[in-house]
Amino acid sequence: MKARTTQIVGWGKYVPERRLTNQDLEGRVDTSDEWIRSRTGIRERRIVSQEETSATMAIRAGASALRVAGIGPRRIDLIIVATITPDHPFPSTACLVQAALGAGRAAAFDVGAACTGFVYALGVANDMIRSGTYDNALVIATETLSRIVDPMDRNTCVLFGDGAGAVVLQATRGDGGILSVSMGSDGSGAELLIQPAGGSRFPATRETVEEGLHYMRMNGKAIFRFATHVMPRATREVVRKAGFRVEDVALVIPHQANVRIIEAAMKRLHLPPDRAYLNLERYGNMSAASIPVALCEAIEEGRLKQGDLVVLVGFGAGLTWGSVALSWTAPWPLEKVSWGHRIWRRLGFRWAYWRLLLRRLSYRILRRR
Ligand code: COA
Repeated sequence: MKARTTQIVGWGKYVPERRLTNQDLEGRVDTSDEWIRSRTGIRERRIVSQEETSATMAIRAGASALRVAGIGPRRIDLIIVATITPDHPFPSTACLVQAALGAGRAAAFDVGAACTGFVYALGVANDMIRSGTYDNALVIATETLSRIVDPMDRNTCVLFGDGAGAVVLQATRGDGGILSVSMGSDGSGAELLIQPAGGSRFPATRETVEEGLHYMRMNGKAIFRFATHVMPRATREVVRKAGFRVEDVALVIPHQANVRIIEAAMKRLHLPPDRAYLNLERYGNMSAASIPVALCEAIEEGRLKQGDLVVLVGFGAGLTWGSVALSWTAPWPLEKVSWGHRIWRRLGFRWAYWRLLLRRLSYRILRRR
């Protein structure tokens, strides 16, 4: 019998409606559209509304991924959410997603590996599926970076945006799917990109707020150097582990931090620049959510063909880095789903949601007694 493998069978994304353009930023800090475009490749980013949070975006991205996979929420047995901007320190954002989607049978937890979070979460879910612990996993990355970026710090406010992306992973005994995973870290660079306060080291006080310690701080130059070295290294490693050569890679889907980082990495890999998928012009850096949103758009633009060798590669605070090599298996465009089936599926979604809502109400009633 063939070994258990993990396939991506569903994908989805959500980005907020509000756009923050380079021109908007010109009116706020000492910067220019020309500087931002030439140094980063970014033109605009999406920013959450007052009501939106990391969880609300994750729920929408997750629901889209379930729809594409054609899987009801009660078949999901594992939810992992990658985020550095959770709704609360606890409970996990994954648990909020689990309740909202009605995934009543799923284990749920968050992974914190900053911009590498989605790759780490995929690695963990892949191992849990291959080992036979779970069969269907929902892996989501979601970030509301606009809530931790100092709007007056031109060093960071031009780079980051909000959004969420998700995939459904399924155990199969077919060929392809996730071939190899590589992850790494170097905590000696922890201070290069950090949100200093809000944890147990500097809990929130009037002073931490006044000193702006709840905003992220970044040494851009050092991160740039780190990223241009680690991205080609992580790509090479995961391709070698999968038993291929770098020139076999059909598409690299990199963390969307800066077009110059991606171009430098592709040069080091001796790959043409157009083999890297780019969408950072429209979204900026969405931390962990960058890779799954880019993956979704690459699929929907027809950039992935069945049998293609695809590499997802991320890097970020920690410092962390990671890569996943996969042989693409899902068809595109998707087969049309019949009317009846769609209605049946929607009813299933609603039923799963109402079950958990009733349970939540019963907890409230018990608390009042
Ligand atoms: N607008 C206009 N000028 C700016 C600016 C801005 N937003 N930010 C910095 N500058 C100025 C600097 O003050 C400096 O001026 P000076 O020469 O008079 O001192 C000049 O532009 C060059 O700054 P420098 O820091 O050398 O720019 P850079 O080419 O390194 O680009 C980053 C800066 C942040 C875009 C780049 O270092 C970067 O992308 N680093 C990686 C960041 C990242 O990806 N973080 C997330 C990782 S997950």
